[in-house]
Amino acid sequence: MTKAPGIEDIFPDKMDRWNHVINSARNAFGRFNIREIIVPVIEFTDVFARGIGDDTDIVSKEMFTFEDRGGRSLTLRPEGTAGVVRAYCENGEYNRLAISKFFYIGPMFRAEKPQKGRLRQFNQLGAEIFGSDDPFHDAEIITLIDAIAKDTGISDYSVLINSIGCSDCRPAYIEELKKYYDAHSSELCEDCKRRLSKNTLRLLDCKNEGCRALREKSPRITGHLCGSCADHYTSVKNHLDTAGIRYTEDPFLVRGLDYYCKTTFEFVTNALGGQNAFAAGGRYNKLVETFGGKPTPAVGFAAGIERILLITESQQVKETRLDAYFVHAGESARDKCFSLVRSLRNQGLSADIDPSSTGMKSQMKKAERDRSRFAIIIGDTELQGGFAMVKNMDTGDQAQIPFDALAEAIARS
Ligand code: HAM
Repeated sequence: MTKAPGIEDIFPDKMDRWNHVINSARNAFGRFNIREIIVPVIEFTDVFARGIGDDTDIVSKEMFTFEDRGGRSLTLRPEGTAGVVRAYCENGEYNRLAISKFFYIGPMFRAEKPQKGRLRQFNQLGAEIFGSDDPFHDAEIITLIDAIAKDTGISDYSVLINSIGCSDCRPAYIEELKKYYDAHSSELCEDCKRRLSKNTLRLLDCKNEGCRALREKSPRITGHLCGSCADHYTSVKNHLDTAGIRYTEDPFLVRGLDYYCKTTFEFVTNALGGQNAFAAGGRYNKLVETFGGKPTPAVGFAAGIERILLITESQQVKETRLDAYFVHAGESARDKCFSLVRSLRNQGLSADIDPSSTGMKSQMKKAERDRSRFAIIIGDTELQGGFAMVKNMDTGDQAQIPFDALAEAIARS
């Protein structure tokens, strides 16, 4: 049996680094007063189709969709925002508090072509702030990602920002963009030819070299923003300046999901090869309404946990270690070990034993393999003397410790 393509097993040896990322993020979410929400991994397909947009790559090509036994179309979530918005609306959250802040951590599914940093099942940590159109919150989300990036140990990254306007100013820009690309339609890749009439903005996101070259001379959104969007964008930048966050303005940063308006941003690094964004997001002021809620502005982000782990691969994190591995010689010694294992565990220490193993050498090897801090060796001599031979596995030092002083001695060192 093998696993399906683009899906990874995460073995215990990766967990210290994994937990370092999660714990750093949880800590940052706490500092920003953002509370956890757990929403389903499966939703009705419509949640994503309506939320993310039918014409996006995610909805049109990348969703894992299936029918349940009642013939309803269900989808494994490709991202977190749509589900959180669905929950926010269904629970009438907009009636409760002016501003609600949520974070989530969990698996997402996209049927993309697997490659380094691009999986079909991957994990995101993300946050959404509902109920504010204040540019302070756009900057707050960017500042939050910056804090998480630093706390997880990512040092070399850039913050790209843009404003893609709103439903007042964007249509005129798209019109102009369409005119420009219509005049060059023969030079476009097949995908962009298709997108031209349906989702013109996405042409700016195309990776094809010819399309990239054309983009250089295309009209920029920045010159087409309405007064309100331009002011909003300026204010976001001012907040970032005040917070000491360095950023680069990228007028082509349009993002691959349809719900955005005003601010969009990405955190990028060269460490990932082709998949250069490890976190991204933006403002989405119309999505709550699309889901039947009261008009509620919102802004949020998500970061790819596997991508963060790839970037921080060489970084050392504090290792979780077993405190004591018991090595026994003879049946009576083994029985004594059983009771000592129980006693250490009851006192909050981690301890383990292999009851069926008899050779001292192989038991010492297991102590090493499990990265135990101490090997607690007990044979006839120790049993009669009422002590254990305690070997420090890092230094090789050995000491005789009375049975009733074991827990304290291990906890102390
Ligand atoms: P996204 O840009 O599609 O945005 O994904 C956010 C992050 O998830 C990416 O920057 C990347 O680190 C990670 N990611 C995406 N696809 C994959 C993949 N196939 N394999 C590994 N990692 C991946 C969103 O998902 C939006 N919901 C973000 C957001 C929240 N906007 C507002 N609120």
